[in-house]
Amino acid sequence: MLLLQFTGMSGAGKSTIARGVQEHLLARQMPVELIDGDEYRRHLCQDLGFSKADRIENIRRLGFVGLILVKHQIITILAAINPYESARAALSAKSDRVKTIFIDCPLEVLVERDVKGLYKKAMLPPDHPDFVAHFTGISDPYEPPVAPDLHIRTDLETPEQSVQRVLDAVQRWC
Ligand code: ADX
Repeated sequence: MLLLQFTGMSGAGKSTIARGVQEHLLARQMPVELIDGDEYRRHLCQDLGFSKADRIENIRRLGFVGLILVKHQIITILAAINPYESARAALSAKSDRVKTIFIDCPLEVLVERDVKGLYKKAMLPPDHPDFVAHFTGISDPYEPPVAPDLHIRTDLETPEQSVQRVLDAVQRWC
C-alpha cells in the first residue's frame, strides 16, 4: 500500500486533489484515508505552531499515523504544506511505500486566488491586528521537492486532470 506525501503551498490544491483521489478510490472499493494538515492541527497537532521545529514535528506525527494506516493496507494521503525537504526525506526514508507528490502552483497565482484570504493577511503591515506571521511563501520558506515522484501543476491542469494523474500513478505504484 501507499503513503502519498503531498507537498505544496497553501491554496495550491492539495485538499481538493486529495478529496478527488479519495472519492475515486472509495468508488473502486479501495481502502483510503485522508490525513489533512488543517484538520489534524485542530486535534492531534493542536499544540503546534508554524515555526520550523513545529512544522517538522507536525509532519513527523502525521507520518507516524500514516505509516500505521499503510501497514494495515490503507492507501493514505498526507495533505499538508510539508515545506521542508528534511522532513519529507525523513518520512520517505522510513518506507519505500512513501511517494512524494508536489502540488505546485506559482506564488503569483496563489496570491491572486487567495481562497482563504490568508495571503492578504500575510502581506498586511506587521502591526495590523489581522496580520499573519511566518506565512509559507511570503514570510516563511517553502523548499520545493528536489526529486518528487509526481509533479502536478495546478495552474496548468484542471482538478480532474490532476486527480487522474495521481490515480494513474497510484496504479503504477500499487
Ligand atoms: S505544515 O507547514 O505544518 O505542513 P499544515 O499543512 O499543517 O502546515 O497547515 C497549514 C494550514 O494552516 C494552511 O492551509 C492554513 O490554512 C493554515 N495556516 C495558518 N497560519 C499559517 C502560516 N503561518 N503558514 C502556513 N499556513 C498557515
